Amino acid sequence: MTRPFVALSKFGAKKGVWAVITGCTDGIGKAYADQLAAAGFNVVLVSRTLSKLQDVQQEIEAKHKVETKVVSIDFAHATPDDYDRLRTAISDIPVGVLVNNVGTNHEFPVRFQDEDDKVIEAIVEVNVMAQLRVTKLVVPRMVERKNGLILNIGSMSAVSPTPLLSVYSGSKSFLRVWSQTLGEELASQGILVECVNAYFVVSSMSKVRRASYAIPSADTYVRSALKRIGLHGGSAVPFNNSPYLPHAIIDWLVERVLPRRLMLTYNHRT
Ligand SMILES: NC(=O)c1ccc[n+]([C@@H]2O[C@H](COP(=O)([O-])OP(=O)(O)OC[C@H]3O[C@@H](n4cnc5c(N)ncnc54)[C@H](OP(=O)(O)O)[C@@H]3O)[C@@H](O)[C@H]2O)c1
Repeated sequence: MTRPFVALSKFGAKKGVWAVITGCTDGIGKAYADQLAAAGFNVVLVSRTLSKLQDVQQEIEAKHKVETKVVSIDFAHATPDDYDRLRTAISDIPVGVLVNNVGTNHEFPVRFQDEDDKVIEAIVEVNVMAQLRVTKLVVPRMVERKNGLILNIGSMSAVSPTPLLSVYSGSKSFLRVWSQTLGEELASQGILVECVNAYFVVSSMSKVRRASYAIPSADTYVRSALKRIGLHGGSAVPFNNSPYLPHAIIDWLVERVLPRRLMLTYNHRT
């Protein structure tokens, strides 16, 4: 962690530039929306439930005096019209930051062959297809400006695969690899791509309610992530970052020290 981090000002903070955040009415996404607005970005809030989006919109406008737009999309069942609404919403604004945060998981650990097909399809639609489609809409806007930051919210379950959460783990593994290829493709166009590898963070999805040093609140986690853009944390993989120190230590150990076969068996038993 000796290299300097990249400041948000590089992507247009306080200059009328917008950030697009998916899955932003709760947890990590809500913390990104709040902290990017606090840093001086206008925000496009994209998530499933319109009433929750409107609550977050009101909260952010009152707190940070920035402009906001809301687009409600259920990414598990999104239609081309839904993506067109997002395309229209961003067609006339400069977009400097995209946080591909939306994600969904298995309800509980289950063997792959016993998982409901609808759950499998929802995980692939939300964790893979939504990231691809939203990014495809946003990247041309960033290329026009030769500037942008794309944060793909990954998971330690891609670094250390988790049996019984196999489709989730595989979907996050897609993000880990795709971020490297996209990052390399876009680097020469002034766009920084980063897969943010989170371990446990307090949220509805993690079902962890109380923060501890190893399991931070979403606010603490995102504060740490926004201060370490462009670094690696414990990750040895290009365009991947585990920005929160206790998670960086776990990532460092998993990627460089612990035997992978042993970790797989340990994760299976846990
Ligand atoms: N929390 C962790 O421990 C952890 C660890 C590793 C990675 N992550 C990743 O971090 C990201 C955020 O997770 P989180 O724990 O903050 O989740 P969360 O608290 O459960 O919040 C999820 C957000 O996504 C929205 N959402 C869920 N399904 C959606 C859909 N089908 N269409 C549109 N929006 C949808 C939710 O909207 P509604 O309010 O309408 O439900 C909510 O705003 C995910 O990608 C997750 O995989 C989390």
